[in-house]
Amino acid sequence: MLAGRGLDEEGLVAAAVDARTHARAAFSDFKVGAALETSGGEVVGGCNVENATYGLTVCAERVALWKALSEGRDVFTRIAVVADTDDPTPPCGACRQLLWEYCGDIEVLLANLSGIKRRLRLSELLPLPFDARLLE
Ligand code: THU
Repeated sequence: MLAGRGLDEEGLVAAAVDARTHARAAFSDFKVGAALETSGGEVVGGCNVENATYGLTVCAERVALWKALSEGRDVFTRIAVVADTDDPTPPCGACRQLLWEYCGDIEVLLANLSGIKRRLRLSELLPLPFDARLLE
């Protein structure tokens, strides 16, 4: 599961690039890789996984998150997302919501195959979140 440990920014992006090589994107041909860093410095990779009904597709970010949560990791610091686009590819709305709920206001590195294009906090991508605090 672990793509690396104690990586700098470029290393985290490299882990996402590596995860992207496993993308199952036969329907969109749009390959995405993600690398989610835990508070302990472990790195969990994820790629998008598509299917013939399209709607069951899971984004790279959520694959990484599900892998990490299911292996008992629960505190996260950064995520890198990589696609082969000139403008960086940000997480979709569903991924923003789930990253917020399970990771909080983590740092988000958006990169293409040439390197890092943007650095954001998740709260910049999801400025008015709905979360469990509103259910109390
Ligand atoms: N996708 C991701 O994996 N992450 C993103 O941040 C944006 C979109 C995937 C979903 C689908 O497999 C393909 O990219 C096209 O939308």
